[in-house]
Amino acid sequence: MIIAIDGPAASGKGTLAKRIAVHYGFRHLDSGLLYRGVGMAVILSGGALHDKSAAIAAAQAYDPGRFPEDDLKSDEVAKAASIVAAIPEVRTALIALQRSFAQSKPGAVIDGRDIGTVIAPEAEVKIYVTATAEERAGRRVRELQGRGGLVDAAAVLADIKARDERDMNRAVAPLKPAPDAVLLDTTYLGIDAAVRAAIDIVEAVR
Ligand code: C5P
Repeated sequence: MIIAIDGPAASGKGTLAKRIAVHYGFRHLDSGLLYRGVGMAVILSGGALHDKSAAIAAAQAYDPGRFPEDDLKSDEVAKAASIVAAIPEVRTALIALQRSFAQSKPGAVIDGRDIGTVIAPEAEVKIYVTATAEERAGRRVRELQGRGGLVDAAAVLADIKARDERDMNRAVAPLKPAPDAVLLDTTYLGIDAAVRAAIDIVEAVR
């Protein structure tokens, strides 16, 4: 079984995907880490993010074990990821790995932007997770504050809106719900309620 979970930045899709995978004993892939890994490789090589050849080379040589996940979680890397993710050859280079992961037994939960539309249009379950940009920025601000330090809330909101804009308006694999995706708005849902709602969606097709 394949469960595709797509949605914008900080919508809660990653946490949801992890919890659903644990619930069903399925494997989980956070596909954002692939684009973050490519963005990070370009940053480290000193190349400009708009230098397509550096990003394409990094995607073609993609090594899932190269960077610890924690190193890929910064907003700087997120921004780099969304820039390199708009390059068609970068996306193409990362398709095979994701499609082969989707075949994991007994099932796979993959979260991202184009899982239900491009990577696994055959997925039995497609959930499109949303929340307002203000709520998503608020979550990110609280997360950053929880790690200590001063946070510029207006800048966080502006970054989230800029990333939405890039992800939704790119020519290849833009972020949008698959026609058969179930929408799950988490603006007013805590994580436990969102997980229950997602499990109800899965159970409806199982
Ligand atoms: O989900 P996450 O915030 O880690 O994704 C980082 C960036 O990677 C996104 O803003 C998006 O541009 C890109 N991405 C994508 N397709 C995916 C997953 C992530 O284009 N399936």
